[in-house]
Formats: sequence, C-alpha cells, structure tokens
Amino acid sequence: MTHPAPTNLKMRVVEARSLNPLIRMLRLAAEDGSQLPGFTAGAHIRVQVRLQDGAQDWRHYSLINPLARADATDAPSEYVIAVRREDSGRGGSRFMHEGLQAGDSLLIEAPKNDFPVHAGGARAVLVAGGIGVTPLVSMAASRKAAGAPVRMHYAGRSRELMAFLPELQALLGDDLLLHTDEEAGAPLDIGKLLDGCGADDLLYVCGPKVMLDAVLAATQARGWTHDRVHFELFTEPVVEEGDHAFELVLAQSGQTYTVQAGQTILDCLIDHGCDPMYDCKRGECGVCATPVMEGEIDHRDYVLTAREKAEGNVMQICISRCKGKRLVLDI
Ligand code: FES
Repeated sequence: MTHPAPTNLKMRVVEARSLNPLIRMLRLAAEDGSQLPGFTAGAHIRVQVRLQDGAQDWRHYSLINPLARADATDAPSEYVIAVRREDSGRGGSRFMHEGLQAGDSLLIEAPKNDFPVHAGGARAVLVAGGIGVTPLVSMAASRKAAGAPVRMHYAGRSRELMAFLPELQALLGDDLLLHTDEEAGAPLDIGKLLDGCGADDLLYVCGPKVMLDAVLAATQARGWTHDRVHFELFTEPVVEEGDHAFELVLAQSGQTYTVQAGQTILDCLIDHGCDPMYDCKRGECGVCATPVMEGEIDHRDYVLTAREKAEGNVMQICISRCKGKRLVLDI
C-alpha cells in the first residue's frame, strides 16, 4: 500500500503568479468547473509533479484562505496554494514554478488535514517561518472568523521574501508580529516568544527544520506538554552534509539495493518496484515505521520517542538514514 485511497481531482491552473523572487502562487479550479470539496484550516492537497528526471511524484501544499468568513472554505470554487522554489530538490518545486502556466491541467488529491487548529477559547499562537506561513494564513482566518483569540509571529529573511503580508496585516492587525533576520540582524528569538505566551496558549508552528527544532527544544526545556505544541515541517527531506550512499538489505526478500546519498530509503524502495507504506514523507506521520535488524540508524523524524530511537529497532524510512555502510530492514 502507498497512500490511503485518495480521491484524485482533475484541475486546471486559473492563475500562476510570482509573489516574490522565491514564491509562486497558483489558483486551481476543477477542470469541469464543478465545486470543489471543502476543507478546514491547516489542510493540504497533494499535487502530481513531474521531476527533472521525468518521473512523476507528489508534492504537498497547504491550502490558503485569507478570508475571515465562517463559510469561506465550505464549498470553494478554487484552491489557492503557494510554492517556494527549492533549487536543490529533485525538481518538484521547479515544475510548479516553470512547468505550469494558466490553462494547464494537473492532478491533485482531495484535501486532507493533518494540522488542524483547535476550535476552543484558548489563544492560538501561530509561528510561521518563510513559506511555512501558508497553513497558518488559513488558521488565522478561521480563528478570526470564529471571534477566537489568535496571534501570529511571522519570521523571514526579509520583507520582500515574505508572502501574504498585506493579507495578514489586514486580517490580524496588532496580532501580527513580524520578524525579519535582515532588520533584526539575528534569527527569531524563540525563547522570548515563548516567554510572552500564556499558560493556556496553544502553539502552531510551521517552517523550516531549524525553526521547528528550536521551538521543540525550547518548549521542552520550559516543560510545555506535547498537546500544547502542534507543528508541520515545511520541507522535503534534505541532503545533509556528510550524507553518503549505503547498502540496504531486505532480510525477508533477500534483496539488496544501494541507497544513494541524495535519495531516501523510501524512494529507493519505490524506485525498485517495492510497495512500502508511507504518507507524509517528512518524518511526521509515523506511517513508514519499519523494523531494523542491523545497522546504525541516523534518526531524523519527529515521531519516535527518544527511547525508541536509542533502542534502534525501528526507523522512519522516509527521512532517516544509516550512519554506517549497511542497513538491514526486517521486510
Ligand atoms: S511517511 Fe510519514 S513518517 Fe514517514
């Protein structure tokens, strides 16, 4: 099994427009003009992309709604997404930037929400890093539509590269706190941000791995319980310095493959015609957990506990790797 039976929708690009040098916004409508399935704040769609090597793959983009209206996303006629160009990736974002123009057709999966915002009265504190702002725009709008307390901290390198600023300013007013590395001369101070939170505030974080790691470490250090911190990682698995190729042995089938330095174990298995279970491909959902028989695991996920990681009997093959030259999986 790969992804749990999604509903595919045939779409047409209504508009494709650069918001800044890095981010392109796309408006998509059903090819036959029909109404689209509704969605809730934090939902995403998966879009079929063509990679540089010609292979097809899926990429995950949050649905954006800046309208603070209770029914704004119940029966939309369009979906709006925004894509950051990643030149070091396998070509998915380049396809979204260069391979699609208004009028083109594309296939998507119906919206799914793995990152919902709560409906209660506790304040939602939204922490956005760069393109990670996209699900949080919809959350800000939905909280405002409900008359519920919300604050957003939005961090980026410079204002020029931060998408949806006018929409967020109109939506949030003083509840939008901007940080630019360029103006501050330093990254967002997560400790100060958390110190400004109330004891009942719930945190929603979406941004690059470095931001997410900093927030998780700082909330843990302050004793925040897990249920107060919600996150979505806004990156494809990245190649880290020192990543190397290794031998992958499948104990049950006896197959041996080479996982290349720029390839995940999951993609290696798929490329060889295997059918592993997966969903998020970002080490967040837990679906791709795979038992390990031999090899030193380089855990990079946000699912396994510290104890499970230390025991080394299971790994998330969509993102984690092998520190040594050989890894044996019990599949
Ligand atoms: S596919 Fe979600 S953790 Fe690997």
